[in-house]
Amino acid sequence: MKQQLILAIESSCDETAAAVVKNGREVLSNCINSQIKIHEEYGGVVPEIASRCHTEVINRIMKESLKTANVCLNDIDAIAVTQGPGLVGALLVGVSYAKGLSYVTKKPLVAVNHIEGHIAGNYLTHKDLKPPFICLIISGGHTHLVNVKSYNDFEILGKTRDDAVGEAFDKVARVVGLGYPGGPKVDNLAKEGEPNIKLPITHFDNLDFSFSGIKTAVINLNHKTPNINKADLCASFQLAVTTMLESNVRKAIKEYHSDKIVIAGGVSRNSFIRKSFDDLAKDLNIKVYYPEPILCTDNAAMIAASGYYNYINGERAKLNLNAIPNLKIGE
Ligand code: KG4
Ligand code: ZN
Repeated sequence: MKQQLILAIESSCDETAAAVVKNGREVLSNCINSQIKIHEEYGGVVPEIASRCHTEVINRIMKESLKTANVCLNDIDAIAVTQGPGLVGALLVGVSYAKGLSYVTKKPLVAVNHIEGHIAGNYLTHKDLKPPFICLIISGGHTHLVNVKSYNDFEILGKTRDDAVGEAFDKVARVVGLGYPGGPKVDNLAKEGEPNIKLPITHFDNLDFSFSGIKTAVINLNHKTPNINKADLCASFQLAVTTMLESNVRKAIKEYHSDKIVIAGGVSRNSFIRKSFDDLAKDLNIKVYYPEPILCTDNAAMIAASGYYNYINGERAKLNLNAIPNLKIGE
């Protein structure tokens, strides 16, 4: 088959991103305009501000992605865009922009599910990785354990019943005074501490997760114990979260006789979680995969990779494509 170039647009939260990817595996460009500095002031993402920022930079970022890839719009085979899940106003900027671009260039439009995009981030880092596999997606908005049966067939095995892991990291960081975005800050401070504080662990009979209990426990402890060692608290929080993640991954690997575990999403940048899953993989004699750090957090290269597999599967979006803020994986 001829080589396929996908131009992707991502604007589901606070990153405006565009990328060009060849054959779903080779990143030619991956441009990201992060709004972190703007939202930092408010301690979290302000949806209306996010939408406005996307509008201001999306055209520049798209052009930059073509220039960096050394291609022009004519060379592109299809335009992929994140349809959901995410913030509706933010998603609409990318969806409207991609529809306009598709209309003007007469290039096919392909809709992409953001969570499936996170999974596909691994295809860019690991050229040999092919489904089937079990994937743990841990991001700011989602915590899912998914059976990736093929490039286009996903079965949810378990998911969080309340907070996403990244959400819990961000909340813990905020209450201990580390600021936004919290994940990387908790990760760094935890390196100076010991996991010596007992925190609640939640287990279910199935493969679901829950992180609201541990989040509340950390908030209460921090509130009631003014001199608590914050580094120890962060280290203990990370250990408890990892224990819950690992427990379900072990169950899923056993149940599905899998020889690999694939981790995806912003929280998969966490150094303690990576080390723990490396150890788990050794223990179970399986292989563990993570995207390279820049492909863990939101980016458009992962959307292009996922879009490529939708595109060669014959999936096309029409010009009445709408953003779906609560889009489910596999839909
Ligand atoms: O995947 P992502 O960019 O956005 C969503 O789709 O939600 O994930 C962002 C999340 C944030 O909650 C951020 O705090 C977390 O990923 N994160 C981390 C680390 N780096 C980013 N969490 C823990 N440790 C990190 N090093
Ligand atoms: Zn994401």
